[in-house]
Amino acid sequence: MAETVSITDNRTGKTVEIPIQDGAVDAKEWAKLMPGTWFLDPGFSVTASTESKITELQGGEGILRYRGYPIEQLAEKSSFLEVAYLLLFGELPTADQHSTWVDDVTNHTFIHENMRKRFYEGFNHDAHPMGMLVSAMAALSTFYPEAKEIDDPENRYRQINRLISKGPTLASMAYRASIGMPFVYPDNSLSYTENFLSMMWRVAEPTYEPDPVLSRALDTLLILHADHEQNCSTTAMRVIGSAHADPFVSAAGAAAALYGPRHGGANEAVIHMLRDIGSYENIPAFIEKVKAGEGRLMGFGHRVYKAYDPRAAIVKKHADEVLKITGQNPLLDIALKLEEIALNDEYFKSRNLYPNVDFYTGVIYQAMKFPMNMYTVLFAIGRMPGWLSHWQESLEAGSRISRPRQAYTGPAERNYVPVNER
Ligand code: CMC
Repeated sequence: MAETVSITDNRTGKTVEIPIQDGAVDAKEWAKLMPGTWFLDPGFSVTASTESKITELQGGEGILRYRGYPIEQLAEKSSFLEVAYLLLFGELPTADQHSTWVDDVTNHTFIHENMRKRFYEGFNHDAHPMGMLVSAMAALSTFYPEAKEIDDPENRYRQINRLISKGPTLASMAYRASIGMPFVYPDNSLSYTENFLSMMWRVAEPTYEPDPVLSRALDTLLILHADHEQNCSTTAMRVIGSAHADPFVSAAGAAAALYGPRHGGANEAVIHMLRDIGSYENIPAFIEKVKAGEGRLMGFGHRVYKAYDPRAAIVKKHADEVLKITGQNPLLDIALKLEEIALNDEYFKSRNLYPNVDFYTGVIYQAMKFPMNMYTVLFAIGRMPGWLSHWQESLEAGSRISRPRQAYTGPAERNYVPVNER
């Protein structure tokens, strides 16, 4: 059977036959048949915006692979920085490559003092850390003007090191500023995740000793968030990067997209929802409200997954380990019951709505004492290697500037009417 599709323009009778390659048909071939006719696809539901070799997601089967490696294996055996290397450079690092990479990232944990003293101190005491992170990432662009040299691979590598390295520093500074605590400088003798925990929680102790189970669980959560192909924020990163903006402002734009409650803000929304539900008895009434269109079951549903999100399954497994150390979180019981009821309800079944990654992460973050407004920040730290991998892949492929067309539905030409005649 031919792996092609034939399209006929009934106005002209002309036909094109286009090969189906890697599950896609080339829109340029199609466009030749119908110049000036655009493909209307709001929300890009059926548009592949790019070819990519980074992450494979088969939503119907619940499969997620980074560079061919199943997410389950990476979550169990790898580390966040190793996964970051894999995403960025396509292969797992050798021992030497790994140690150079970890050193290169670790060398950039500090940030310019002006950022702390002038920039961070300018925020209101109750500023949301995600808003602070977005602006701080953009502000870093002004400290590294050479980041504009995006065609130079060495330069790109240095900015990639900086962005991955400084994420936890900027994030913890935002948190410390919000609670009026002094900033804790990075401790480069600790691992990536341990250093982040140290900057978050250290008070007067000379060195911070994180619980190994908690730091491993957090590292695993970062792995699970590291990439997810052409999601909203990664698309933002690629679009901004396609204009050849530097990686700091591009990442700030990606982080801004992540901030939204439909995307990375959902983990925070899940906890608000679980708290509002409050107890088992209120679950059926809540489900009925969702079914009546009054709000959504946050942490459920996904544009691509029409099966159980494999990341949610891994997070659920880790929740038990973490809670053994931190003590029980009653919200986990409500979440489990809510999942059970929803998965047996026709509304959710018929729409293939399953828990996504955000459904259980908030429960773990809460048990680890992260304040709710830091959850999306944690997502952003995890997603940084993914954003950068796609940015780099797009530059290396020499992509054109992103510039979609539209189907204009506004008024036809009309003449200006002076204000006193309207
Ligand atoms: N609760 C109740 N109904 C839902 C939900 C939900 N969470 N998600 C989708 N639906 C219904 C929706 O009402 C629609 O029903 P109908 O066909 O009767 O109109 C149908 O399912 C299809 O929904 P959609 O809005 O067309 O789906 P989408 O692909 O545009 O949206 C989504 C995907 C993730 C934005 C959406 O499922 C949602 O809002 N979920 C809750 C927010 C959430 O958990 N977001 C995190 C996503 S995973 C992490 C990330 O990517 O950042």
